[in-house]
Amino acid sequence: MDLLSNTSAPLASVPAEYVFPPEKRASLLGDLSSDDVSLPLIDLHSGALSDEILRRQVATEIVKAGKEFGFFQVVNHGVGEDVVRAFREAATKFFEMPPEDKLTYWSDDQSKPFRIASKTPWDRNKNRYWRDYLKLICYPIDEELVQHWPSKPEAFRSSLADYSVALHELSQNLLELIAEGLGLDRGFFGGDLSRGNTQMNVNYYPPCPDPSLTMGLLPHCDRNLLTVLSQGDVAGLQVRHNGRWLLVNPLPGVFVVNFGHQIEIVTNGALASVEHRVFTNSAKARLSLATLVHPTMDCLVGPAPVMVSEENPTKFREFVFSEFYKTFDAAAGNREDVLESFKIH
Ligand code: SIN
Ligand code: FE2
Repeated sequence: MDLLSNTSAPLASVPAEYVFPPEKRASLLGDLSSDDVSLPLIDLHSGALSDEILRRQVATEIVKAGKEFGFFQVVNHGVGEDVVRAFREAATKFFEMPPEDKLTYWSDDQSKPFRIASKTPWDRNKNRYWRDYLKLICYPIDEELVQHWPSKPEAFRSSLADYSVALHELSQNLLELIAEGLGLDRGFFGGDLSRGNTQMNVNYYPPCPDPSLTMGLLPHCDRNLLTVLSQGDVAGLQVRHNGRWLLVNPLPGVFVVNFGHQIEIVTNGALASVEHRVFTNSAKARLSLATLVHPTMDCLVGPAPVMVSEENPTKFREFVFSEFYKTFDAAAGNREDVLESFKIH
């Protein structure tokens, strides 16, 4: 079991298998900084959800931000600070456990729904990301599901259950607002499109002796419908914007939200999934929690008729979501490769 988090003392140099070719590394030079432009921050205070006029304003803001960036941030989102803190602490402790406690979950087979790994076979050059991650299904919760979750550290299961329930509610609220902002029925995304198993990636990026040589994650889009991310207080996430990389400056108490490929397809391109990547840093470990809302595997996905018009003809064919899920793995994460076989030319 080869995990970065297994080494107790920080590594003195970057092992060869983690060194990326120069064109794949993250140079911060020439990148957009958050001083130039930053991801819109949407305030979801309770009035914004219950008052019809405020609600419409917020829905419009979300869709405007989403169209410009594919990403936005939310604050006053209703997820308790203590809920986030408790699970972030448990998740950090999970990676800090001795190797033998993590061994049960270790697997290089990426089709496994529950596993800890460090390799990602997206990169055909066999470079390894500077990242360990724990992948699991986090919602809907029942007794059987909980048995698949790590039983150590002690607070892991209970804090994950609280976090998952809260994130489910938040993501459903966001999907309703997105639908309204597009002029669709509030429940538009509420059926099978968002009712698949919600996946969580708990990403742990240990301090890196030389961040200029390696990457936490290469550019990719997400294959699901909607992703809600807690990135904590350590920077690392960059979003592609107008051909450059925009750093998402960590802000306390916010979630970063982004569109997956399925929202792009269902809205016939009105909302796009945007590439993002993660760079490492030498000083601190970074922990991010990505909650990925998915369609059911048998959900029929395709552009909604209301999103298609003479000016905006159908861009994608219909498919069953399980087909997309498999294609994504085979296409090594590259946005254009993934979408190619689903496009109508
Ligand atoms: C991801 O894109 O899945 C992770 C992003 C992050 O670690 O900030
Ligand atoms: Fe991602």
